[in-house]
Amino acid sequence: MKIIHAKDYDDMSRKVANLISAQVILKPKSVLGLATGTTPIGAYKQLIDWYHKGDVDFAEVSTYNLDEYRGLSGDDPQSYRYFMNHQFFDHIDIDKDNTHVPDGTDLDVEHACKSYDQLVKDAGYVDLQLLGIGRNGHIGFNEPADAFSKGTQCVDLTPSTIEANSRLFDNPDDVPRQAYTMGVQTIMQARMIVVAATGADKAQAVHDMIEGAVTPQCPASILQLHTNCWVVADAEALSLC
Ligand code: GLP
Repeated sequence: MKIIHAKDYDDMSRKVANLISAQVILKPKSVLGLATGTTPIGAYKQLIDWYHKGDVDFAEVSTYNLDEYRGLSGDDPQSYRYFMNHQFFDHIDIDKDNTHVPDGTDLDVEHACKSYDQLVKDAGYVDLQLLGIGRNGHIGFNEPADAFSKGTQCVDLTPSTIEANSRLFDNPDDVPRQAYTMGVQTIMQARMIVVAATGADKAQAVHDMIEGAVTPQCPASILQLHTNCWVVADAEALSLC
């Protein structure tokens, strides 16, 4: 793993956006794996700004998001599809047909998971996968478990993730209890991985990801085995390393 030290959230966001824009400039038909959460919002803002300045464009890019709440439609303001449209896709020249998020409205778990896996496979897997990290070391919605997941799966969210994500909902009871997530094996198939983290509440997870044992109890720890994984983090997030 290579560590890039960022001064603060804005600096982290610029550095992550730099890595993504370099990828897209070098390969206009890039397949990007994208993430939700508050961490990547600044990087998306920076990329939108550079797009408007003519520094980068997304006309040929395709994207595959990590996860989606099971049961939410893309029109639901709490869905990750809605998040991606509003935080990023609506503001750049990407062809929306080339943007993909697991289908939260498909309640047939096997069908929803298999069809998302097929889409990612047909795209030739991801060139650059952007990841945030959960406080318990989850990536996407791959929660601590007894084994690393492979393809897309439906997961029961842990109480700590429900609690962490409830800040984005008006009523904590509205946080969905299940989600579809790309599996760890698929994430590891990305040719480059960029993990973004800021803030003291991520310090333990960042420590366990970088220096801990490789274990499914900390799903992000498997990234130690990836040969092209970059962690962009601020001093607080790196304070236990
Ligand atoms: C959610 C998402 C993850 C994200 C994590 C951290 O659980 N499924 O992909 O990395 O939250 O979110 P945040 O960046 O808001 O801390």
